[in-house]
Amino acid sequence: MLIHKTLRWLPALLLRGFAVFCCVCLGLALVSRPVYAADSYVTYYLKVTEPIPLALDDQGQTRLFSAEDITEGKKLFGASCTNCHVGGSTLPNPPVSLSLEALKGATPPRDTIERLVAYMRRPMSYDGTEDEIYCREVPESWLSRSQAEHLAGFILRAAQVAPGWGTDQF
Ligand code: HEC
Repeated sequence: MLIHKTLRWLPALLLRGFAVFCCVCLGLALVSRPVYAADSYVTYYLKVTEPIPLALDDQGQTRLFSAEDITEGKKLFGASCTNCHVGGSTLPNPPVSLSLEALKGATPPRDTIERLVAYMRRPMSYDGTEDEIYCREVPESWLSRSQAEHLAGFILRAAQVAPGWGTDQF
């Protein structure tokens, strides 16, 4: 008789247990997940697992960027820049790439976080004499200072170590 009763309640009990289990898992996943979990491209090809120093300004200061910062930069780059700058190259004219060599060779050089953010706020021609109309301007109302810095951090790190970054050979 008792066994009979228990059996009748068993499916409902199991269902309730399962629902509670799902809620706990979902809750844990939401609480424990950082906003930008490090991307495997960032940890493997950009070799960022621990925070790495990147050149901040012309005075030789550096700033630490975590794998999460660089991952956020990669996502922003993928969403807004890849169409023209796939793999750090530049498809439309003028084809000035995002390689470290090209960034260093610009006037003024663009191989620091501050210079890259300044460029995004106001894109300039390679010799720095005119406004650049082909590249995409990134106003403060669109990406905050910290987002723009993470985007710059991704570009700089990729220019330093990403295999094939900024090539003009496809
Ligand atoms: C519509 C195409 C287009 C898009 C989208 C675009 N760019 Fe550009 N970008 C260009 C072109 C063309 C140049 C070369 C400009 C020049 O030197 O006159 C350039 C140049 C640059 C340079 C300078 C490269 C160097 O070696 O000096 C940087 C940095 C840059 N882009 C960053 C970005 C970022 C960051 C984004 C996304 C927010 C972006 N671009 C989106 C077309 C684009």
